[in-house]
Amino acid sequence: MRPVLKSLCLLLLLMASLTFLYLHIWAPKPYATIDLRSRLHRDPGPLLDEQLLAPPKKYAHITFRLKEEVLELLPKNSCKCEVEPGMKLPFQKQLFGQVSSLEFAGAFSPSELPEINSKREQEYRSYQHSASTAPSQSASVLPPKCPSIPIIPLESASTMPLNQANLTATMGTFNVAAEVEGVKVTGEGEMFLSLSGPQLDNLNRQMQFVTYTNTLFHPNTADTVQFATDEHQASFIIHIRHAPTPKLYNPDEYNISALVTIATKTFLRYDKLRVLITSIRKFYPSVTIIIADDSQNPERIEGTHIEQYFMPFGKGWFAGRNLAISQVATKYVLWVDDDFIFTPRTKVEKLVDVLEKTSLDLVGGAVREISGFTTTYRQRISVQAGGDEGDCLHTRQGYHHLIEGFPSCVVTDGVINFFLARTDKVLQVGFDPRLSRVAHLEFFIDGLGILHVGSCSDVVVDHASKIKLPWRKTDSEKQYAKYRYPASGDDSVSTKHSFFYFKNRFKCMTGN
Ligand SMILES: *[C@@H]1O[C@H](CO)[C@@H](O)[C@H](O)[C@H]1NC(C)=O
Ligand SMILES: *[C@@H]1O[C@H](CO)[C@@H](O)[C@H](O)[C@H]1NC(C)=O
Repeated sequence: MRPVLKSLCLLLLLMASLTFLYLHIWAPKPYATIDLRSRLHRDPGPLLDEQLLAPPKKYAHITFRLKEEVLELLPKNSCKCEVEPGMKLPFQKQLFGQVSSLEFAGAFSPSELPEINSKREQEYRSYQHSASTAPSQSASVLPPKCPSIPIIPLESASTMPLNQANLTATMGTFNVAAEVEGVKVTGEGEMFLSLSGPQLDNLNRQMQFVTYTNTLFHPNTADTVQFATDEHQASFIIHIRHAPTPKLYNPDEYNISALVTIATKTFLRYDKLRVLITSIRKFYPSVTIIIADDSQNPERIEGTHIEQYFMPFGKGWFAGRNLAISQVATKYVLWVDDDFIFTPRTKVEKLVDVLEKTSLDLVGGAVREISGFTTTYRQRISVQAGGDEGDCLHTRQGYHHLIEGFPSCVVTDGVINFFLARTDKVLQVGFDPRLSRVAHLEFFIDGLGILHVGSCSDVVVDHASKIKLPWRKTDSEKQYAKYRYPASGDDSVSTKHSFFYFKNRFKCMTGN
C-alpha cells in the first residue's frame, strides 16, 4: 500500500504546483481599461532648431560660432524642390541626365486646395499616431541629413580640472553645428568625437550641437553610440532607416461607401452569396463588394458596385482573401464569409468609429449562429522563445484589456472571420496563398508584431446554418464540404503543421 500512496502524493504535489503555474500564467486577471485614444492628443515635441538656437537661460551667456555647412544639413520644417544651379558643363544633360522638379499641388484646383490640405493634415496626424511607435529619442537618419542627437546634460560637477566627454559610433560620423567657446572638439567628421573643457556648462552647451551623420546605410538597424565621461558611461541607440512613406486616404467621414469595401471569397455557394449580397444592400446600397471566386463553373453575380474576380478552380481560401483584399481601394476593408447575413445589428459604422478613434489596425465583430449562440472568437496569442528546436506557440481564448470609451471592445491578438481592418495593414501581413483550405488563425499569427487587434461584441453578423445533416446536402454542398472540412489525416492539416514548423519556426503549440 505504502509505495502507491507515496507516488500518489508526489503526483498530487506535482499537479498542485503545475496548477499553480498554470494559474499563474493564464489565470484571468482583472482586466484593465486602457484609453487608446489618448495618443491622439499627444503633441509633437518642439523643433530641433528652436531648442538649439534659443537655449535655456542657464546657457544663454555662452557664446558660440555656428558652422553653416553643418547647420545646413539639419532637418528643417520645410523643404523645396529646387534644382541646384550647378556649373554648366558641355554635354551635361547627355551625361548625367537633367535634374527636373515638379510641383503636385496643381493636381487640385485652387478652390478645393484649402479643404484638401486640412483633410490631408488631419489624416496625416492620425496616421502618425497609429503608425509610429518608435521611441521619440530615435533619430531616423539618412546621409547627408544629420539630426542633432539628444544627449542628457552632465549634472554633477566633476572634481577634475578638465571635463571630458567621448562619443563613439560604428555606423556614422559626428560633427558639431556650432563651436562653443572654451571647449576643445576633436574628431569632427569621424566616428570618435571628443569634447573637453574646464567649464561644465560650456561642455553641456557644446553637446547640444553634436550631430550624427549615418555613413553605413543598412535600413532597420541601429547604431549604438557609446558615451563616456570621466565618471560615467552610457550608450544610446540611433535607428537607421528611411521614414516610412505615409499612405493616406481622403475619405468622406459621413459616407461609408467612400471609406469601406466589403470583401469576400466564394466557392460553389452562390445561393448563400446571393443572400449575403441582398442583406448587405438593405443597409449599404452603394458600398463596393469584392468577390474572389474559385468555383469550377463560375456564375456571374450581377449588380452595381460589385466586382467579381475569377480564379483558377479550387485555388483556395487564403489565395482568395489575398486577391480580394489586393483590389480594395478604400481606407478600410470589411471581411465577411460568403454565408453571412447582415441584420440591423451589423453596424459597420461602429467598427469604423473604433478604427478612426483608436490606434487599432483591425477590429473584429461577433457572429451569431443559427442556434442563437454569438461568438467573437477572441484569441490571445503568444510565442515563447525556444532553442534550436524552435519556439512554442500558445493560443488562449481571451483578451488583454478593455478599451476606454468603447465598452463592448477589447484588445486581443486574433478575432473571428468578420472584421474591419486598415487596408494597408492587412496587405502588409498578407494571406499565405499556400494555405488553401482550413486556415484562419494563421493570418493573425503572421500579423503578430504588425497588427494591433481589437474585438467588439456589439456589431453582429448572422451566420447561415453551417451544420447540415449529410443526407440533406445538395451536390455542391457535398463538394464544398469535401474541400472545406478535410479529415484530420488530410494533406492540408499536415501542410498547415509543416508551415508552422518551417515557416514560423514553431516546434509545438498549445491552445484551448
Ligand atoms: C576620451 O578619449 C581620449 C582619447 O582616446 C582618452 O585619452 C580619454 O581618456 C577618454 N576620456 C574618457 C572620459 O573616456
Ligand atoms: C459616397 O461615396 C461614393 C463613392 O465615393 C459616391 O459614389 C456616393 O455618391 C457618395 N454618397 C453620398 C451620399 O455622398
